[in-house]
Amino acid sequence: MTSHPTVDGAVVTTPVPDGYRLAELDTVADRDAIIDLDRWAFAFDIAPEDRSAVVWDLEPGRVVGVWDERDPGARRLAAVHASYAFALPVPGGARLPTAGLTWVGVHPGHRRRGLARAMLTTHLERSIARGEVLSALNAAEVGIYGRYGYGIATQGLKLTLGRGAELREVPGSADLVVELDTLDPARHGDLVQRVHTAVDRPGWITRDTDALRASHLVDWPSARRDAELLRIAVVRTADGEPRGYALFRRSEKWSPTNVAEGTVRVREAVALDPASARALWGTLTDLDLMASVETPWLAPDDALVHQLSDLRAAKPTMVDDVWIRVLDVPAALAARRYPSTVDVVLAVQDDLRAANTGHWHLRGGPEGAEVERTDAPAHLALDVADLGAAYLGGTSLGALANAGRVRELVPGALAPASAAFGWTVEPATSWGF
Ligand SMILES: CC(C)(COP(=O)(O)OP(=O)(O)OC[C@H]1O[C@@H](n2cnc3c(N)ncnc32)[C@H](O)[C@@H]1OP(=O)(O)O)[C@@H](O)C(=O)NCCC(=O)NCCS
Repeated sequence: MTSHPTVDGAVVTTPVPDGYRLAELDTVADRDAIIDLDRWAFAFDIAPEDRSAVVWDLEPGRVVGVWDERDPGARRLAAVHASYAFALPVPGGARLPTAGLTWVGVHPGHRRRGLARAMLTTHLERSIARGEVLSALNAAEVGIYGRYGYGIATQGLKLTLGRGAELREVPGSADLVVELDTLDPARHGDLVQRVHTAVDRPGWITRDTDALRASHLVDWPSARRDAELLRIAVVRTADGEPRGYALFRRSEKWSPTNVAEGTVRVREAVALDPASARALWGTLTDLDLMASVETPWLAPDDALVHQLSDLRAAKPTMVDDVWIRVLDVPAALAARRYPSTVDVVLAVQDDLRAANTGHWHLRGGPEGAEVERTDAPAHLALDVADLGAAYLGGTSLGALANAGRVRELVPGALAPASAAFGWTVEPATSWGF
């Protein structure tokens, strides 16, 4: 037996196993239960010195949990998930309402009983009911989310730079000023937000609530155990206009023979033009007593990649970053721009949302796009998860076809469609959520 709950007025047809109850959670009254569940699911604890620094950034109306009803008086949570209300930039610059799925956790004592499936189905239904066109997430494990129609849309690249790593000269970088300071959210918060939101890149999710902005500027006391305070490097023009910043901290280390082996860990680095990127990384790789610089997860085509003389020496590591789930296929396809003309019929399969399944006639280009349902034969066939992977332009339809995931039904249709779904820069996000 299963029950079919209604959550917060939204139609929710998701069955939950007997003995459990799905319900919207109160971000104030249920806060301790939510945090406790998260500690169980992710096997972590908040260091005592960090407790007062935690910023509670979950949004009311967007947190849903599963109560263990076997002992209703105990109010024990068995599972939880939440989402942020993002405006996610897509190729061409439109910002689409996007449910940023987060905090997905099932208590280890309740796992593999279908609770995550119930929550994910609920999440998709509630997001669609809110009019969200996409859902995005960072996956704790790669095997979890493909079954719900999410595909890998962006990759993150991490580099470890040696002291004095050689960077190409960029005209104008020597005219910029790089100021080093201790991060002070009150003084630097607006500057960070201004530069961060000025980035023009698909997938670049901005932090649009006070809580999200604040949580990214927290200097965790526990992170200072072997390191310094959180610092900020700000790149400015001669007129004082900020063009880039990096949040970083150094840790001191000495070899037994007194060789300095310090590390610079960069939490976030954003630069709005090539000269600013050159000035920022030139400063970070030339700090005294530091032997190496660890970058944050960067876009695979970050300016640094092509300014470095020796990328191989920086030990590049790439992993999946943001996964995209297209919730409304025609709205998503019509909202983005295409660098070349595209006129294609896509046969989309969505096992969880019948409204997305079918043949979609897409006509688009750099100026706009139109999408309509059609009975016409399809040129290409793909699953909605692969459409999510390709949607931001970071994974090509051609690459997915090479892997047998996109099928070319009409010879010659793949190449122009694949080119049209690309973009000038790789999609990326600067932070995990
Ligand atoms: C991952 C997690 C949410 C899954 O919850 P769950 O309630 O056990 O999952 P379900 O019972 O609903 O399983 C649904 C399906 O997902 C599969 N699955 C569950 N966890 C999986 C994992 N970690 N890797 C691969 N597949 C997984 C199940 O086998 C099942 O497959 P099926 O559709 O073929 O039957 C839970 O194990 C958990 O909280 N893990 C630790 C925290 C975490 O990783 N959270 C995700 C954050 S992004």
